[in-house]
Amino acid sequence: MATSVKLYTGAEMPIIGLGTWKSEPGKVKEAVKAAIAAGYRHIDGAFIYMNEVEVGEGIHDMINDGVVKREDLFIVSKLWCTFHAKSMVRQACEKTLSDLKLSYLDLYLVHWPMGFMAGDETFPLDSNGETIPDKSDFLQTWEGMEELVDAGLVKAIGISNFNRDQTELILNKPGLKYKPANNQVECHPFLCQENLINYCHSKGITMTAYSPLGSPDRPWAKPDDPSLLEHPDIKAIAEKYNKTSAQVLIRFQIQRNVIVIPKSVTPVRIQQNFKVFDFQLSDEDMKTILGFNRNWRVCAMQWSIKHKDYPFHAEF
Ligand code: A2P
Repeated sequence: MATSVKLYTGAEMPIIGLGTWKSEPGKVKEAVKAAIAAGYRHIDGAFIYMNEVEVGEGIHDMINDGVVKREDLFIVSKLWCTFHAKSMVRQACEKTLSDLKLSYLDLYLVHWPMGFMAGDETFPLDSNGETIPDKSDFLQTWEGMEELVDAGLVKAIGISNFNRDQTELILNKPGLKYKPANNQVECHPFLCQENLINYCHSKGITMTAYSPLGSPDRPWAKPDDPSLLEHPDIKAIAEKYNKTSAQVLIRFQIQRNVIVIPKSVTPVRIQQNFKVFDFQLSDEDMKTILGFNRNWRVCAMQWSIKHKDYPFHAEF
């Protein structure tokens, strides 16, 4: 079982990364250190997670302790929606680099296809509670991303939460210089993303699964929402292999060659989530898990449902 996925740039992207969405400052530095100590070499972050300074501290502690070198790590961050104007992309990336105290990122993603009004508010809302769009066009944003590669600030660029048509618009952009290396989308057995994965893989675009455990710590969780970690059928599969439900959910992705970024701030779970290279789900169990698909989303970004570039009206 390969432990990394090759990007078209030639770089190897470790197939498991530590997710840091919802990881509170005060905890995330130790989480990053625990992950690197456990063998993770890929850390997934974003400006909007509001914790990049601490993520950087965790990385630098481990580099300074001689556990890893910068070049052994694969660090990902994402351009927030209020920086979609082509002229703002570089300053957004430089802010992330300065917070992380790094000179380059391995991968920088456009976090969402939607641009929001620029300004101090990260979620500028109108009186109806809907995000205020800007006039940007993500094809222009993409040109700003391409410039980051040429400037040496990032090794590769990609997208996140882009649907098939939006991905295709980038691929077909006149004058395209660098195609996306990765599309990071929500993906787990309740949202298997078979069609989007097949499409992106056919175009040489790798896929990353976020919220692979169903993000039970999402702030908007309701008591009646379905739970993946508690799902009896997933528990039953896990028991067969003497593994946990989390390990099955992670293994499910890597067996499809999908990169996966489980989030945890709990060292024993961080370690557990990496111990998925010593078992193999049978074809039948993979099929059973795919059968749980019900197009259920953790991250529907419902405040932007009227935005011209909202990605989730399309089937995939
Ligand atoms: P915590 O961070 O408190 O350890 P996702 O990756 O889908 O966003 O899910 C993250 C959530 O899953 C967090 O609440 C995290 O808790 C929890 N979690 C992560 N790993 C495990 C695990 N191995 N067992 C149970 N819960 C886990």
